[in-house]
Amino acid sequence: MAEFTLPPNSRVQPGATHKAPAEAKNVRSFHIYRWNADDGQNPRTDTYEIDLDACGPMVLDALIKIKNEVDPTLTFRRSCREGICGSCSMNIDGTNTLACLKPIEDMTGDVKINPLPHLPVVKDLVPDLSHLYAQLRSIEPWLKSDTAPPPDAERLQSKEERAKLDGMWECILCFCCTSGCPSHWWNGDRYLGPAVLLAAYRWIVDSRDEATGDRLDALQDPFKLYRCHTIMNCTQTCPKGLNPAKAIAEIKTLIFEREG
Ligand code: SF4
Ligand code: SF4
Ligand code: FES
Repeated sequence: MAEFTLPPNSRVQPGATHKAPAEAKNVRSFHIYRWNADDGQNPRTDTYEIDLDACGPMVLDALIKIKNEVDPTLTFRRSCREGICGSCSMNIDGTNTLACLKPIEDMTGDVKINPLPHLPVVKDLVPDLSHLYAQLRSIEPWLKSDTAPPPDAERLQSKEERAKLDGMWECILCFCCTSGCPSHWWNGDRYLGPAVLLAAYRWIVDSRDEATGDRLDALQDPFKLYRCHTIMNCTQTCPKGLNPAKAIAEIKTLIFEREG
């Protein structure tokens, strides 16, 4: 039977409040989800009061300041801090985005930070992406060609062929889109979701790839592709401004057209 309330051990409890230094004049509160599988406790929301006059401009700067100066147990992923690696994706004030690209000054009032929704949590703000990476592997995201490359040259493309990859090669696999996709929430075991389907389309339209038919065959499935109902959450939330919903629609069109 469907369960419409959280089990008691999943309910988020109020947590600790870490006060700002008494001399701080420009204070903002960050309410951050905390959960540690090892301590057997419910998840909680800890509050950290941060002096923005002594903090960098982005939400990631605040998280790093908290970890370095207030609470070293706070756990989150980050690497590049400039929107390239995709590791700092999280839900900030209700929107899936990258902490390193989210200016604190863009938000008013307290800032609420949670892990990407609808994914298992490893600890605090770190989601378990294993299933999403397995789905990515399933579409074989690499060049497949029976034709040998020229002996002394790269496989060349025209400018027009190369331009078809624009809007896809920029994807950093942050999974903000897939985590915000209602169809993936309900059918994530079989529906591939927007990030993986964008990656699939990137190889389908690559002029150097010779497995287009096989790739479309693999996606012609009631769940892998056709669970997308064009709700567009993915495109609205993508922090890189990409349009996975359009890529999914284009795959459907290619499958429709080849059936004549
Ligand atoms: S358009 Fe498709 S992939 Fe994007 S959020 Fe909606 S259902 Fe998910
Ligand atoms: S399409 Fe956008 S939101 Fe989705 S994984 Fe790629 S960069 Fe992230
Ligand atoms: S730290 Fe790399 S994208 Fe944010």
